[in-house]
Amino acid sequence: MLYGINQLKITVSVAFGTGMYQVINNLFINAIKFAGNGKLVILKMSILEKKNSLLISVIDNGPGIPDKEKDRVFDKFHGDDTSKGKGLGLGLYICKRIVELHKGKIWVEDNPDGGAIFKMVLPI
Ligand SMILES: Nc1ncnc2c1ncn2[C@@H]1O[C@H](COP(=O)(O)OP(=O)(O)OP(=O)(O)O)[C@@H](O)[C@H]1O
Ligand SMILES: [Mg+2]
Repeated sequence: MLYGINQLKITVSVAFGTGMYQVINNLFINAIKFAGNGKLVILKMSILEKKNSLLISVIDNGPGIPDKEKDRVFDKFHGDDTSKGKGLGLGLYICKRIVELHKGKIWVEDNPDGGAIFKMVLPI
């Protein structure tokens, strides 16, 4: 059970406004859709002191994202061969826009244990 989400909502809202809550929410909804309802999703947050920035990772054990799709999943209406008809393909595009408005970066990596890790770095 991911019981930290209420605390996350408060903390993130205070620091970055409600847009950042929407980013986290989109990433969790994706994990539920693509990795499977009821599967473990890990949220990690750490401060990168030297860079004065916050690193947030959303980690799942789903099918992951192939290398050739890793940049494209952030495009508007992306979701042809990988979407499995589960959405419009706007969620990650909106996430990227919001993160960039906060002068941050978002990207996806492979989870070494299988699955995807969505990472973002935000200046604090
Ligand atoms: N955690 C994930 N694991 C595997 N594939 C993912 C994951 N998150 C996103 N994807 C892939 O990236 C595509 C784009 O994600 P995005 O959130 O933009 O769209 P969507 O979830 O399909 O639709 P929407 O968010 O508009 O409801 C998805 O269709 C899916 O193919
Ligand atoms: Mg989505």
